[in-house]
Amino acid sequence: MLSSSVKARLLGSGMMAALALVAYGAPVRAEPGPAPYLDPRLSVEARVDDLLDRMSLDDKLGQMTQPERRHITPEEITRYRVGSVLSSGGSAPSPNTAEKWADMYDGLQRAALAGRLRVPIMYGVDAVHGHNTVVGATVFPHNIGLGASRDPALVREIGAATAEEMAGTGVDWNFAPCLCVARDDRWGRTYESFGEVPELPAMMTTAVQGLQGDELGGPASVLATAKHFVGDGGTEGGDDRGDTRIPEEQLRAVHLPPFRAAVKRGVGSVMISYSSWNGLKMHQNRYLINDVLKRELGFTGFVVSDYNGIDEIDGASGFTRHEVTAAINAGIDMVMVPTEWRRFIEYLRDAVRDGDVPMSRIDDANRRILTKKVELGLFESPMADRSYLRTVGGAAHRGLARRAVAESQVLLKNDHDVLPLDDDDKVFVAGGSADDIGMQSGGWTITWQGAPGPITPGTTILDGIRKVADPSAKVDYSRDGNGVDGSYDAAIAVVGEKPYAEFLGDRTDDLGLDPEDLRTIDRLRAADVPVIVVLVSGRPMDVAARLPGWNALVAAWLPGTEGAGVADVLYGDAEPTGRLPVTWMRDGAQQPINGGDGKEPLFPFGYGLTYSG
Ligand code: GLC
Repeated sequence: MLSSSVKARLLGSGMMAALALVAYGAPVRAEPGPAPYLDPRLSVEARVDDLLDRMSLDDKLGQMTQPERRHITPEEITRYRVGSVLSSGGSAPSPNTAEKWADMYDGLQRAALAGRLRVPIMYGVDAVHGHNTVVGATVFPHNIGLGASRDPALVREIGAATAEEMAGTGVDWNFAPCLCVARDDRWGRTYESFGEVPELPAMMTTAVQGLQGDELGGPASVLATAKHFVGDGGTEGGDDRGDTRIPEEQLRAVHLPPFRAAVKRGVGSVMISYSSWNGLKMHQNRYLINDVLKRELGFTGFVVSDYNGIDEIDGASGFTRHEVTAAINAGIDMVMVPTEWRRFIEYLRDAVRDGDVPMSRIDDANRRILTKKVELGLFESPMADRSYLRTVGGAAHRGLARRAVAESQVLLKNDHDVLPLDDDDKVFVAGGSADDIGMQSGGWTITWQGAPGPITPGTTILDGIRKVADPSAKVDYSRDGNGVDGSYDAAIAVVGEKPYAEFLGDRTDDLGLDPEDLRTIDRLRAADVPVIVVLVSGRPMDVAARLPGWNALVAAWLPGTEGAGVADVLYGDAEPTGRLPVTWMRDGAQQPINGGDGKEPLFPFGYGLTYSG
């Protein structure tokens, strides 16, 4: 029996004739065919209304629940009707191949479709610089390098390429782009930021268009996520998940604009930050979520918590019914509750029963979630589109990534135009980041933290140098620089940070280079040849005291799998056009240091040299 609201909407959706008879009780043979919510001819609103009318409370509680793949079985997906499943960082099928991802996704989706109402799941991953959890996928530069490119069109292309590689594996929800405004380089997530001013992440919300397409549901369209709402890059001391203690005017001026831009571009979901604002955890901030994000910015997608984010509301481990109530009433629509998802459902059911969470809130959350599922076309095409599997790590995407790497390079010093190198120069390469895909990719690569070593197919920076230099040119390598002598035209030290992610990358000590890297550079300098330092790092590092002894310095950031893009700039096949997306400290003690704060940096925000002067 159709409810009056559904009938009203169906009437408005061009099914006047048949339904007008029904509305006035005249006998009419019911149209054979799918239930309205399964009928793509109807409006999204009418379909969602019809589905909501058919759902039980438990159906609706399930939709608001997102377990991690290792902590739920296909049978439980069917039984609890969960709305989504995620892969946390590095959580992959075995073997970790694109095909196996597609098999895994389809298996879980079939379990969801076995439920009474056949509501498909969304599957979420952190494809933050390509489909980076899948071995063999293209890994693009991390956001800080893309911020240096100042190229929003490039970022949109990268989003589209990432969406294609995701679509081949079925994965239809990306916890990206991160739109944080990194104000303190000691923060372990600085490299996930496009820059220290709101204009850069706001400009790069083209990533949303790339991922989602001009509208959800097109070919290789995946749901994007603006994260982490709001102020995660402004915490005291760069403390990940810390407290952003600033007046509302500054919060609105610095950290809110990228989310305003993402909402205007139609971003489908927003993830809440672990951090606090003036002592209140964002995961319970009703004002900023309900009043600012949903009402003032007009966000009509759905809000997802961060991973166990509701556990941190009261500062104690685990979550309570009070925390569940606070998070849902604050406006969180789906909860990323990797392991204790049964208890979450139980607590939320109790809260609804006792009137602590109104049914209207549950319905609003479900309406937001289901609207995105209908718009994504998941009811019509729930399975992986394996026609895109051939794009995973394919030449076209790797070529795009190589261009992105070149555009992200920032030339900071170039004494006597030692760069660009000549193709036939005799070159000595050294450094721990020269021949290591894992080092040049950074965190969120295959595993959550990333790792040194040949973790996925790609071109190391040394490979790239050998590929770009003249085949007859002599290019020698030793990690520690042993073997260099005065016969070389130049020595290149490729050094930097070991991979890290989130709070494990927070630095409270200085931001200096590793002693091993410094020893390597000194060994090259002792050979009395021009020394070019290529810095592979997720943020500016404290190099001022050493810089006078270096003939050139290039900030390569975290380039990903296509290291040849660095060589393209070193040999002049690509002009260095990158400009600093963050202010470069003169001394680690200056942190936080940002443009306009009156401190004297080593290199200011926006700095970057070119070869053409
Ligand atoms: C992490 C991160 C968030 C990520 C989520 C799922 O803790 O804060 O950026 O999307 O968990 O992996």
